[in-house]
Amino acid sequence: MTVQSLALPLLRRLDPERAHRIALAALGAGLGGRAGPHEDDGLSVEALGLRFPNPIGLAAGFDKDARAVRPLARLGFGFVEAGTVTLLPQAGNPRPRLFRLPEEGAVINRMGFNNNGLDRFLDRLARTRAGAPLGVPFGANVGINKEGADPPRDYARLVQALAPHADYLVINLSSPNTPGLRDLQQAARLRDLLDAIVQASPVRPPLLVKLAPDLAFESLPEIVETVVQAGLDGLIVSNTLVARPPGLRGRHAAETGGLSGRPLRRRSTEMLAEVSRLSAGRLTLVGCGGIETGADILEKLQAGAHLVQLYTSFAYEGPALLGRLKRELRDALRDGGWSSIEAARLQAPHAARNS
Ligand SMILES: Cc1cc2nc3c(=O)[nH]c(=O)nc-3n(C[C@H](O)[C@H](O)[C@H](O)COP(=O)(O)O)c2cc1C
Repeated sequence: MTVQSLALPLLRRLDPERAHRIALAALGAGLGGRAGPHEDDGLSVEALGLRFPNPIGLAAGFDKDARAVRPLARLGFGFVEAGTVTLLPQAGNPRPRLFRLPEEGAVINRMGFNNNGLDRFLDRLARTRAGAPLGVPFGANVGINKEGADPPRDYARLVQALAPHADYLVINLSSPNTPGLRDLQQAARLRDLLDAIVQASPVRPPLLVKLAPDLAFESLPEIVETVVQAGLDGLIVSNTLVARPPGLRGRHAAETGGLSGRPLRRRSTEMLAEVSRLSAGRLTLVGCGGIETGADILEKLQAGAHLVQLYTSFAYEGPALLGRLKRELRDALRDGGWSSIEAARLQAPHAARNS
């Protein structure tokens, strides 16, 4: 029995936040199934000094408290990112705060960093990582509490505490649901913040910043230079979108929060391409936003991503998504004549190559 085969149709009928909690508990109880051992042939990636069996990662927010990292890794993700975790536990925003837009393949959320806090996260990680290796890189995504935060101090503490326990770390500056958070992407504040983090943790795993897709493109050159100058390793492009694309359908389309899924794809890919051009090979780039097919993954690779992540399509389709995406990605690579993920990176889209 897997979550996919039996529970998913039922879960779709429940309140989305309850459905999510049940799915995570079912995964934790081992009901998620396991991917075959050889299915990642030809999809491996070397990035951030790590080996990824495939480039498809689980984005932050699905497993905020690191409850099911090992079962999620077993589903066939190439890497798993837990969090966002904050120093202190917090309840997040009042419910309802998570809305499905099924006709758009989208979700709107204003969860507000609901999580159990750093200490519980560390406890769970210690238990998860005891014993056999995880088999895939593990990332921890960190953020600040809504009340009483001192961003340079808090991010520095979070990075220091998690550095020994994660294969990479993500500074989340892009959730729309923590007031003031996204202002930390302004170059001067970003510089102070990153300097504080780097000074506090001279020895650390690769460090990435996760950006908002609402950023004006004119702000990207300074952001990219600041991240490079601070000695960081990469960027995740992107988090959820505050803006609403025209014509968004669904009875929840006007809810406040971050939009994810299909309507985010184009904007996040365009921003990724711009960040790729600006960083000119100096940063590792993770493309995230609206991935639903192998062709969408190829599109992110061609825009400059070394790796990709997803959340919304996994929430809709469940574990079967991974087998399908890998099959489609392999087909897309073969059709383009590329022998590896790396070979397809930054290559012109297929149609353009033939024209
Ligand atoms: C319900 C929900 C909660 C999320 N929580 C977080 C979070 O805590 N931290 C974070 O960095 N991103 C969070 N995200 C954003 C995702 O990691 C991802 O960047 C975004 O959803 C775009 O990818 P997608 O279109 O594949 O969903 C969340 C997304 C959703 C839908």
